[in-house]
Amino acid sequence: MSNSVLIIDFGSQVTQLIARRIRELGVFCEVRNSDIKIDEIKKIGAKAIIFSGGPSSVYEKDAPTIDKKIFDLKTPILGICYGQQLICHLLGGKVTSSKEREFGKAMLLVRDDLTLFNDVSGVFDLSPVGSGENFPWNKKNPPNAITQVWMSHGDSVKKIPKGFKVMAETNSAPYAAIADEKRKIYGVQFHPEVEHSLDGRQMLKNFVIKISGCKPEWTMKNFKKEEITHIKKLVGKNQVICGLSGGVDSSVVAALINEAIGKQLTCIFVDHGLLRKGERAQVEEVFAKKFKTNLVCVDESKLFLSKLKGISDPEKKRKIIGKTFIEVFDRESAKIKNAIFLAQGTLYPDVIESSHPNKGASHTIKSHHNVGGLPKNMKLKLLEPVRMLFKDEVRLLGKELGLPDHVVGRHPFPGPGLAIRIIGEITPERIRVLQEADAIYIEEIRKAGLYDKIWQAFSVLTPIKTVGVMGDARTYENVLALRAVTSIDGMTADVYHFDSKFLCSVASRIINQVRGINRVVYDFTSKPPGTIEWE
Ligand code: XMP
Repeated sequence: MSNSVLIIDFGSQVTQLIARRIRELGVFCEVRNSDIKIDEIKKIGAKAIIFSGGPSSVYEKDAPTIDKKIFDLKTPILGICYGQQLICHLLGGKVTSSKEREFGKAMLLVRDDLTLFNDVSGVFDLSPVGSGENFPWNKKNPPNAITQVWMSHGDSVKKIPKGFKVMAETNSAPYAAIADEKRKIYGVQFHPEVEHSLDGRQMLKNFVIKISGCKPEWTMKNFKKEEITHIKKLVGKNQVICGLSGGVDSSVVAALINEAIGKQLTCIFVDHGLLRKGERAQVEEVFAKKFKTNLVCVDESKLFLSKLKGISDPEKKRKIIGKTFIEVFDRESAKIKNAIFLAQGTLYPDVIESSHPNKGASHTIKSHHNVGGLPKNMKLKLLEPVRMLFKDEVRLLGKELGLPDHVVGRHPFPGPGLAIRIIGEITPERIRVLQEADAIYIEEIRKAGLYDKIWQAFSVLTPIKTVGVMGDARTYENVLALRAVTSIDGMTADVYHFDSKFLCSVASRIINQVRGINRVVYDFTSKPPGTIEWE
């Protein structure tokens, strides 16, 4: 049996959060779509299974379900929200449909604190609760503990199956938590994985470690060791190509494969001339000098610039850069003999998303970002050594591999680079202006110790010209916009609020030192309604 947790995804928006929480406990887990077959579940052999929530109703036609044989595996199961309802539905209980959703905080009255609710510290905050509950317990029948949980459901359990008992209730949910302790099957109406369930981490820990017996052995040190052995075996005597962009994911992948097979790896770094100041030198410093990797740096800035001449439309810029990138990459990789693998920095959220039941919507939003990716028709096999990792785990792995902090902590940078931060036409002079100004902005952010608090910070060169006075002379130069946002995954973002003195000093340094800019503005738009980039 493998020391891991299997999460079966019934379509909840927060399934990934369950996975994050389990990994935080130091236990490996994987997320699989609910159409997974029972044989596959047996093959995975996880020590614990979690059914996620989901938007469906168990009685709906085509509602996602699972083979009942799963209950015979004797593996502990925890059903969350829809997961709980499905357990009841499949084991002979009843679920009531409701058109209205209960959404918000609720007070959970714990009646049994020996297993799932062991050591819940009984925390709650007294701000108004979502479902309108006040302190509902009956003084004659005091609960063992009270803790705040987060509810988000329509349907709820009406009758529990034979063998189950109530572990906890809320004012409006008599079956907020139920269990068949003999078979180690648990069901909760609320979402322990979200932050507002204040003891949620402890509950998941109880289920995964105490009840199911998983050991907290998932560390990046162990992952690195195992993955290196795996890569060596898989690659044998062949060659691997890695497209290195200088970003966190591809850098970690390159460092990992380099440690596994050294000179059998060749990294290709395409300089399209739209990088930030000093970026190429940094990549060379780390990968050629420090790690002694086979690094091919191709300077094709002239080629890219010539193709972008006269182009202002952002989508056209993206397409030209994407296509040219593939041509250059194809040409360079054809020079590498015996290459049979192409390494890519695919991360777990992309893997989960591509098998998520509601994948359509988010995929269309992101599709335009795929330009600058790698050729689709290459005859190489994909090697994706971090495809089971989340971003923060990739960063930890990077540290474990000895990558410098400025690489592992780097803000995301779009494939088309500065092309989509120069509004309007791209010229060598405009690239220079933006590079200089952006370097000052980022340097000041780092000096102020703010870099790691921000998801992305960058400058945008606008085509607007304004009048200014410098010394005795009148100037007529461009406006530069500064942007900084916080975000979890880039899908939504909030404006980062700098101290206005900080912004004033950055603005004055840029105007004084960068020829071509005489006015600096700050962008206060969140996403939505804006996007992070301007183009
Ligand atoms: P938006 O601007 O859509 O950006 O809010 C969300 C995230 O995606 C990055 N981004 C791109 N990345 N190629 C990329 O590789 C692109 O064309 C592209 N456009 C935006 C953006 O920097 C942010 O992190």
